[in-house]
Amino acid sequence: MKVYLDNAATTAMDDRVIDAMLPFMRNHYGNPSSVHSFGREVRTAIERSRKKVAELLNVTPAEIFFTSGGTEADNTAIVCGIESHGITHAITSPLEHHAVLHTLEMCEKKGHIKLSILDVNEKGELDINQLEELLKANPKSLVSLMHANNEIGNLNDLNRIGSLAKEYGAFFHSDTVQTMGHYVHDLKSLPVDSIVAGGHKFHGPKGSGFLYVKKDKKIHPLIHGGAQERNMRGGTENVIGIIGIAKALEIAYEDMAEHQVHVEAIKKHFIQSLTQEIPGVEFNGLSGDLDKSLYTVLSVSLPPSEANSGMLLFNLDLEGVSASGGSACSSGATVGSHVLRAINHTPERDAVRFSFSRFNTIEEVDYTVGKLKELYAVEA
Ligand SMILES: Cc1ncc(COP(=O)(O)O)c(C=O)c1O
Repeated sequence: MKVYLDNAATTAMDDRVIDAMLPFMRNHYGNPSSVHSFGREVRTAIERSRKKVAELLNVTPAEIFFTSGGTEADNTAIVCGIESHGITHAITSPLEHHAVLHTLEMCEKKGHIKLSILDVNEKGELDINQLEELLKANPKSLVSLMHANNEIGNLNDLNRIGSLAKEYGAFFHSDTVQTMGHYVHDLKSLPVDSIVAGGHKFHGPKGSGFLYVKKDKKIHPLIHGGAQERNMRGGTENVIGIIGIAKALEIAYEDMAEHQVHVEAIKKHFIQSLTQEIPGVEFNGLSGDLDKSLYTVLSVSLPPSEANSGMLLFNLDLEGVSASGGSACSSGATVGSHVLRAINHTPERDAVRFSFSRFNTIEEVDYTVGKLKELYAVEA
């Protein structure tokens, strides 16, 4: 049996997405900037995709910019948000994705900002009082805090953080890569200035993404060149990626409630079975709490084991189960996970992130737990 439980890394493409993209590989190959009919038909399809994304997020098409993925969108929001709004200070957390952390560190190194990193407890919960104190003390701030963590699944309260940012006049960017397509984002009511998406996290194509920037928080482009994306991103558009991400988001919204019920049942069953079968198992961050974590992610901390130490992912892979790892250690060739280090996960325990999609089944979970039980029985 082959079981794919690494959906936070990337997902399988939906056949309907592939079907929507194919005509733009085979027939509609015009450059959308060309004024002839070949170009115009592709331009129309791009704008239709933008309109679809904007409708789903309850914003205007002029606030959506297509990018090469979440990383580029995060870079654009942060680097250009800072430059365009005279920002001198930024606040983030040690649990952010490197697309955010490394970008902010680069801005600090260049002397553009002073960077403050919030404290987190061993569950990965942010210190919101500290956030308020920092906002109070630094009037020209950018806050960059993700919606859900990609490794431990912790959900942040965007309403609360965004309201605080608004109260103190800060620019609020949120990396929503892991929640786009999994939750409804109603940006009319959500107090965010910019958010991002990567199509491959919700059954769309890799190398596709978008950035939303609120109308009254306009920023300048990161990539200079032609006038594409209303002068916000030079370069001939990734037409098939744009068609694909919009279709994937449309499908995600159509069946979201049903998919959520299905995936939550899988996660719940996984938690119950692991707790029953593997003595000493723990869940990292808030991922064991269904109300406080992303329903697609379960980060498991396994008891110290000589037979599996450092080999668990490899052993699982041999049994046909694909998941992704994490270790808190920072020695040797593997750098380890900065997220697990930040929540003081002990390096003696193996950490595995299992992440789910609507294509997974309860049978796959039972198979995986059975294999884990076997691997840990060797120990006993
Ligand atoms: C939270 C988060 N932000 C950003 C990214 C980067 O997105 P992309 O792969 O589309 O560049 C990822 C991908 O793993 C992610 O999980």
